[in-house]
Amino acid sequence: MTVGSGLFVTFEGGEGAGKSTQIRLLADALRQAGRPVLTTREPGGSPGAEATRHVLLSGAAQPFGTRMEAILFAAARSDHVEEVIRPALAQGTIVLCDRFLDSSRVYQGVTGNLEPPFIEALERVAINGVMPDCTIIFDLPASVGLERVRRRAATPDAQTGEEVELDRFEKEELDTHEKRREAFLDIAAADPRRCHVIDAAAQPDAIAASVLSIVEAALESHGGNGHGGSEAAQ
Ligand code: TMP
Repeated sequence: MTVGSGLFVTFEGGEGAGKSTQIRLLADALRQAGRPVLTTREPGGSPGAEATRHVLLSGAAQPFGTRMEAILFAAARSDHVEEVIRPALAQGTIVLCDRFLDSSRVYQGVTGNLEPPFIEALERVAINGVMPDCTIIFDLPASVGLERVRRRAATPDAQTGEEVELDRFEKEELDTHEKRREAFLDIAAADPRRCHVIDAAAQPDAIAASVLSIVEAALESHGGNGHGGSEAAQ
């Protein structure tokens, strides 16, 4: 089945890997080439999902356990898919999403110790057939990523002058973040057709060039114009 003529690209990886900057650069490059682009993120991306984001990232849901958090991530994803991603793909838009189902597999599944059938069931309901066509995994030693995140948090916000607090996941142990790095690499190894690993320690312009060439190749294999945002068999 086909969602529409759009291309669905997701960006994954650990903390401080530079995904947001690269998504912005890629969106600019694609728009300059005249392509319709939507940038979005998880948790969030739709009004319902954005309402859940704070609950998850502030740590407010943490005392209720990983299972509860995983269900909230799935609820947010379902809303985001149905309200934003599926309609955009149906209109032929290239959707660039900062994190998606692989983050749940890694953060809640692998390091949250939730059993695979539980994660798979939530994933099936949440994505409801909307699988990414292409996933770019930003790979970086966890210590480097955390250092970047901590430095960012210690720099007062340009507008408000306030320091940004680390979120519920950024505060976790280095060890946990290293396990996540390995888990993302395992996902890439298991699904090489969908997943592309890039070295997030490289220079930003070199990363931007790699990301653009991966997405151009994905567009090419979807018919040159983002055809065929794939819909997994139910
Ligand atoms: P970010 O916007 O800085 O990427 O923060 C999102 C955080 O939420 C990040 O630490 C990863 C985490 N997360 C999960 O644990 N599971 C998920 O399914 C998603 C989308 C994000």
